[in-house]
Amino acid sequence: KDDKFKKVIAHAKEYGYVFQSSEIYDGLSAVYDYAQNGVELKKNIRDYWWKAMVQMHDNIVGLDAAIFMHPTTWKASGHVDAFNDPLIDNKDSKKRYRADVLIEDYCAKIENKIEKEVKKAEKRFGDAFNKDEFISTNPRVLGYQDKIDTILTRMAKSLEAEDLQDVKALIEELEIADPLTGSKNWTDVKQFNLMFGTKLGASAEHATDLYLRPETAQGIFVNFLNVQKTGRMKIPFGIAQTGKAFRNEIVARQFIFRMREFEQMEMQFFIKPGTQKEWYEHWKDTRLKWHLSLGMGEENYRFHDHEKLAHYADAASDIEFKFPFGFKELEGIHSRTDFDLKQHEEFSGKKLQYFDHEDNASYTPYVLETSIGLDRMFLAVFSRALQDEELDNNTTRTVLKLPAVLAPTKAAVLPLVKKDGLPEIARSIVEDLKWYFNVTYDEKDAVGRRYRRQDANGTPFCITVDHDTIENNTVTIRHRDTMEQQRVKIEDLKTIIKAEVDV
Ligand code: GAP
Repeated sequence: KDDKFKKVIAHAKEYGYVFQSSEIYDGLSAVYDYAQNGVELKKNIRDYWWKAMVQMHDNIVGLDAAIFMHPTTWKASGHVDAFNDPLIDNKDSKKRYRADVLIEDYCAKIENKIEKEVKKAEKRFGDAFNKDEFISTNPRVLGYQDKIDTILTRMAKSLEAEDLQDVKALIEELEIADPLTGSKNWTDVKQFNLMFGTKLGASAEHATDLYLRPETAQGIFVNFLNVQKTGRMKIPFGIAQTGKAFRNEIVARQFIFRMREFEQMEMQFFIKPGTQKEWYEHWKDTRLKWHLSLGMGEENYRFHDHEKLAHYADAASDIEFKFPFGFKELEGIHSRTDFDLKQHEEFSGKKLQYFDHEDNASYTPYVLETSIGLDRMFLAVFSRALQDEELDNNTTRTVLKLPAVLAPTKAAVLPLVKKDGLPEIARSIVEDLKWYFNVTYDEKDAVGRRYRRQDANGTPFCITVDHDTIENNTVTIRHRDTMEQQRVKIEDLKTIIKAEVDV
C-alpha cells in the first residue's frame, strides 16, 4: 500500500502534475503546487463539478466570495471557539499528534484484522461464502467490531464533553505508541485552533486581526439574502462556490490529502425547516451518483454516517473513497440546520429571513451542505487512474487511466517519421483541433515510446500520421485503455474525440 502511494507521488512529480511548494528551499510542509498537467486536471474536475451543480440545476447559482471576511464571521460561525483539534505530544520523541487520529488509526488496525478474517473465510468457503452473513455472525469479527464501537463512542463522548483527560486516559489504556519511535510517554491533550491569523492595515496599532477562511461556506451564508433577493430565488435553492481554504493542520505527510492551503467545492442548499431529512437523503444520493458517473468503480466508495457531529450539524455523512492508504473521507454531506444563519443574525443584528409566499410566513431557512475537497478529489482520481499493466508480450506499461473528460490533454498528434511532409500534416491537425480541446504534438523518439509516454501522461487518444495519410487523408487513432487502433478520416477526428471527452 505504501508502495502504491509512493508511486503516485513520484508519478505526479515526474509527469508535471504536482510539485512540492518552494521545492528549491526544501519545500513547505503540507503545501503543494500544481504543475502544467495538474492545473488542467484540477480545472477539469472543478468544471465537472460546476457543470453538475450549477449548470444542471435551475435553482442553484454560483458565488465567488472573498477569502478575507469580517472577523466577527468566525465568532458567529463557532470557528473561533470550536474549530479545534485535540493535540498530544510525545515526551520522548517531541513529536506532536492529533489524539483523535491516533485513536482512529488504532481502530483501523482492528479493522484490518476483520478484513483478514474475511479473506481467510472467503478462501475456506469459496463460492458458498456470504460476506454479510459472516460479518454479522462470526464471533471473532463481532468481538473486533464491538471493540471498535466502544473505543470510538467513548472518544466521541469525551471530545463532545471536552473531557481531554479521558482522551489521554484512553490512549494510555490502549497502550498506543508513537508510530515513529514506539514510545508511550505522552503529555496531556490540549485543544489547538486550526485557523490561520493575519493582519489587515498598515500600522501596527490600527491593524485588525483577520483569519484566512477555514471553509468557503461562510461566504455563502453571509451573502444568502443578497443572492436570494437579487436572483429572486425561491426556496429550495442553492448557492455553490469553489475556492481556497486554509487550516493549520497538524497531521501532514499525506501529500495532497491533507493540506494547509487547499480548495473546496461547496454548495449550500436552503430549505424549509422540517424538510431536512428528505434533502439530506436526496443530496447523499445525488453526490454519490456524481462520483459514480466518472466510472472509477462502485466498490471504491462507501458512506460513513457520523455519530460525532460538528458543532453546526444535526446529521452528517461522508462519502469515503478507497485511497492507496485505505478508505478515507472524500466529501461531506451535512445537515446544518439554521445554525449558521441564526448565528449571523445574532452577531450582525440583521435579519436573514425568507418570506415564503405560499405559506405567507417568514422563517430562517435550514441548510443542507455538500462539501468536497478539490485536491482530495484530484488525489482520488489520480491514484485510481495510475496502473501498472501486464501486457500480452510479457512487458508492463505504466498507464494513467484518467476519465477522458478529466484528462489534461485529450489527444497527441504524432507523425510516424520526421520527414516526407508528415510533421506538417500533423501540425495542421493540431491547429484544427486545438480550439476544441487540449492537443499536443510529439515527434521525438520511436512511435512506440511516444505511445507509452502519452499513456503515462493520461492522454486518452494518440493520432498517428503515416504515409497512407498523404494518399487518402486518413490517420490512425489509438485508444489509451484498449491500445486498439482504428483508421479514420482526418475530418472526422473532431467529432470522434469530442464524443468521448465532452461532459
Ligand atoms: N463547510 C464544511 C466543511 O468544511 P469539512 O468536512 O471540514 O467540512 C469538507 O471539509 C471537505 O474539504 C472534506 O471532505 C475534504 O475533502 C476537504 N478538506 C478538508 N480539510 C482538508 C485539508 N486540510 N486538505 C485537503 N482537503 C481538505
